[in-house]
Amino acid sequence: MDTSNQITTPTVLLIDDERMNRLIVGDYLRDSGYAVLEAESSSEGLRIFDNARPDIVITDLRMPGGDGNQVVTRLQNVAPDTPVIIISGTASLEEALCTLREGASDFITKPVREMDRIKHAIEAAMKKAHLNRENRLVKTALEDAIQQHTHDLRDLNAKLKNALESTVNALGVIVAQKDPYTAGHNDRVARIAMALGHAMALPQNRIETLRVAGNLHDIGKISVPEEILNKPGRLTPEEYEQVKIHPETGFDILKDIPFHGPVAEIVLQHHERYDGTGYPRGLKGNETLLETRILSVADIYEALTSDRPYRRGLPHEQVVAHIVREAGKQLCPLCVCAFVAANKSGVLSAIANSERAGQFPERP
Ligand SMILES: [Fe+2]
Repeated sequence: MDTSNQITTPTVLLIDDERMNRLIVGDYLRDSGYAVLEAESSSEGLRIFDNARPDIVITDLRMPGGDGNQVVTRLQNVAPDTPVIIISGTASLEEALCTLREGASDFITKPVREMDRIKHAIEAAMKKAHLNRENRLVKTALEDAIQQHTHDLRDLNAKLKNALESTVNALGVIVAQKDPYTAGHNDRVARIAMALGHAMALPQNRIETLRVAGNLHDIGKISVPEEILNKPGRLTPEEYEQVKIHPETGFDILKDIPFHGPVAEIVLQHHERYDGTGYPRGLKGNETLLETRILSVADIYEALTSDRPYRRGLPHEQVVAHIVREAGKQLCPLCVCAFVAANKSGVLSAIANSERAGQFPERP
């Protein structure tokens, strides 16, 4: 239907079983500039409505073979923006209120002494319907815009996540080139730490933090001279002191990267020990993050089960026994419990045995 035509010549469907009423009201509406369709029952009216889709419906309330309420109810379902005005000479006030509650736009009492009352009711109802349509269009447009923005934000988030992941990988590659031992070690420590996180039923975001921190915990070794990192055998005390700086260097490298978890802090703390014998700050017990204490267990398990040029990796069961003995000493008892639980599933030895580097010297 042409919108401009809808505004200039609205079509009114008039439903009334009394021919005289249709004649009087119909003539008045035509004289007022409306196109008028007529029906003598609610069923005929609804049929005409379906075919012609008039702009507004005026209906009697009580008619043989179905009343005006049926018209209101049906139009509420199929065309809620089409106003329905009730004209009745028999309804009580309560019935009138009921029809309004059902969705009728207005209620006019017959006989209509002032015909302009009908015109005003039509104008008010159509204005309200027009506003409803406008509101719905605005609401739909807003919902579409919000949906699009949400999609864009998700897209942007995914790109940022990818960029962060690429940064993590690039940093890992740099340190692995300098210290080949760390490549496989970091990956296995990350996976073991995640297994412990799962055993502790940590939420996914904290397990993801364990993955990233596990992969980057030795990133600070980038500042340690290669001849020290690749030196076969034991380090001198002076060399060892240089290596011990790597947690702080790692923190400086990572502290401004917007990870979702406290990755830089975990890296700074990863050589702290539960009994306070670690470095750089000698933190004790719960002074370190839970993720740090998990990472410590994973780091020690991976290191002790790895082969070294001057020794074979220790047997899995022997390392497990060592870790259990260290609960409450170097290692957090809660994390050791998680370690024992994860060990029962066999996942730890499977990770520890995967893709061993094996030929590189042990480092702090
Ligand atoms: Fe380290």
